[in-house]
Amino acid sequence: MLAFVLVSGSLWILLELSSTLMEKMQAQEMISGLRIPEMDDISQFFLSLPTSTLVGIGALTAVLTYWLATRPRPIKPPCSLQHQSEEVPHEGGGRRSMMGDRTKLLTHYHDDATTMYEVFQRGLRISGDGPCLGSRLPNQPYKWISYKEVMARAEHLGSGLLHQGCKPNPNQFIGVFAQNRPEWIISELACYTYSMVVVPLYDTLGPDAIRFIINTADISTVICDKVEKAQVLLENVERKETPGLKRIILMDAFDSALEERGRSYVGEDKMGLPPAPDDLSIVCFTSGTTGILIINNMNQLFIFPNQDDCLISFLPLAHMFERLIEAVVYCHGGRIGFYQGDIRLLPDDMKALRPTIFPVVPRLLNRMYDKIFSQANSQWKRWLLNFAAKRKGAEVSCGVIRNDSIWDKIFFSRIQNSLGGRLRMIITGAAPTSPSVLGFLRAALGCQVYEAYGQTECTAGCTYTTPGDWTTGHVGAPLPCNLIKLVDVPEKNYFASKGEGEVCVKGPNVFKGYLKDPERTAETLDPDGWLHTGDIGKWLPNGTLKIIDRKKHIFKLAQGEYISPEKIENIYIRSEPVAQLYVHGDSLQSCLVGIVVPDPEVMPEWAKKKGILGTYKDLCKNTELKKAIIDDLVRLGKASGLHSFEQVKNIYIHSEMFSIENGLLTPTLKAKRPELKEYFKDKIEQLYSSISM
Ligand SMILES: *[C@@H]1O[C@H](CO)[C@@H](O)[C@H](O)[C@H]1NC(C)=O
Ligand SMILES: *[C@@H]1O[C@H](CO)[C@@H](O)[C@H](O)[C@H]1NC(C)=O
Repeated sequence: MLAFVLVSGSLWILLELSSTLMEKMQAQEMISGLRIPEMDDISQFFLSLPTSTLVGIGALTAVLTYWLATRPRPIKPPCSLQHQSEEVPHEGGGRRSMMGDRTKLLTHYHDDATTMYEVFQRGLRISGDGPCLGSRLPNQPYKWISYKEVMARAEHLGSGLLHQGCKPNPNQFIGVFAQNRPEWIISELACYTYSMVVVPLYDTLGPDAIRFIINTADISTVICDKVEKAQVLLENVERKETPGLKRIILMDAFDSALEERGRSYVGEDKMGLPPAPDDLSIVCFTSGTTGILIINNMNQLFIFPNQDDCLISFLPLAHMFERLIEAVVYCHGGRIGFYQGDIRLLPDDMKALRPTIFPVVPRLLNRMYDKIFSQANSQWKRWLLNFAAKRKGAEVSCGVIRNDSIWDKIFFSRIQNSLGGRLRMIITGAAPTSPSVLGFLRAALGCQVYEAYGQTECTAGCTYTTPGDWTTGHVGAPLPCNLIKLVDVPEKNYFASKGEGEVCVKGPNVFKGYLKDPERTAETLDPDGWLHTGDIGKWLPNGTLKIIDRKKHIFKLAQGEYISPEKIENIYIRSEPVAQLYVHGDSLQSCLVGIVVPDPEVMPEWAKKKGILGTYKDLCKNTELKKAIIDDLVRLGKASGLHSFEQVKNIYIHSEMFSIENGLLTPTLKAKRPELKEYFKDKIEQLYSSISM
């Protein structure tokens, strides 16, 4: 009893604070959760053919069908969770999903939705011309455009484009340079309607990358949302740097100008010339983001799709991840509500829209988690919060996901309401989510949280949480549309025979190649059609996949930035007092830390010049010296053009050299990274906890 009195006493405060959770999210924080591509990524500009894209979408459609058809609690798993994948004969150890028709890979789910065009048509049919795309002005309710109207506007726009000289075939690339909004989807659909190809351009790409894309993809027409974006493009044109760019179309002028003109030509074009399933549909600039998805071909679980589902659209549509999830929603007659375009207003938009589907990136989940805990501002409250999450977590691990337990009523309902109060499903991709965050939020938000793993090159996903498997520490099982095998990486001591190796993907969702870059394509896609992801995976006994390393030492920070630690080490090693160093980071962290071994010969002298005296051993423990070394590293980094996220935020000074004897160097004197990471595990944890304080 006493406990409860106390509970309610302190809870009130806790809940009160939780309600401000989303409101406090700052634009920067959320935006940095999204991947901001670098110039280096330009070579990854790639081409995705329908055999990949469209089929991937079909497969995805199948998955969401399952989601949509599945009532939240308790989830009946579509296969035994102890046996989620199986080896396929004659595929070099490739494993496939236990779901669906196991004799062949899934290519699409609905026979009437084999292209993106048909996907939309299907939504129109199913929804009976229901609401499709919604947007709102500040402090106003959402206004909806119906499926028919979207279709009509897309036809008019497409027809207008043709009249402007665009050709209705898959060699016609149309740039779309805009934030998420209804016109984005209308532009996309306009292209599909006339077999043209959409090339998304991305705000944060920067003018150089945009110029590169426009030239490489021979884009003659770009559809923009804002005048400012048009100006960026016009400057390129004026400098004669994008000779092929002939037309810029402003979204805000749609209604009056082009659509109007298009309307009068629709007749001539016989209401569109939709593509065949094998036509090119999307050319996508990838930074390697994404990860999502899906599938299961559970016919017996199929219930007619739920057109009440509503998705909040704020992750950039330039990402496969977002576009695929949206496509699935409209394939089932659901609706998509766009945020106002200002991430700071997202909480308000969520409350107005009350979405049921919320696609996110892990960074956002981390923020929510941190926020909830930082507001529980005493040990006691944190203990209570953890206690409640554990109690509910016990239910979750039995497959029960609900939002009406006593714990929800006391602790979590305010958090749930701050997200609109109707969420059924959160889908996270793009980077790994920390198991503790995932576990906590599954309990606290009372909705299904799915994690996907993949890359843009496999249409955003190749493994996915099996519905009902709410355990953490893995990325789920292969999707029914692809096989996954692990390939030996002897130089890093990973062998497929031991269930470890580079993750390779084969199936209809694998991309066709990089646009005009056969060399890179050949590096990534082998002659047998396996996509080599560069990630090292491990099969768990129950057939799920765990990602354990990178083949090359490249990883993504939590906010999605790629880091090549060796590049950074090569710069830092030039610091005078430094003999050896190891730069550490991982996808659960948003910054880097380092282990530095100072040079016993040089460092004491160097320190002396800074007025820091002592023996080598003493100096290694001296915080002033540590500070001086960090400053020197950061100075070098800056001079070499490192981004601030590539700089270490803290270091630990170690006084013993890495050597072959102590197992930290290879016989060829290269750093053994996994060993270093393991060896300095505690120090690294301390470094991170000192940063977060
Ligand atoms: C699958 O195996 C992993 C590792 O053994 C475990 O952590 C996870 O809980 C298992 N999943 C299920 C559903 O039992
Ligand atoms: C709880 O879940 C149900 C079904 O998913 C939903 O209708 C209801 O709005 C949810 N309540 C909250 C507070 O999230």
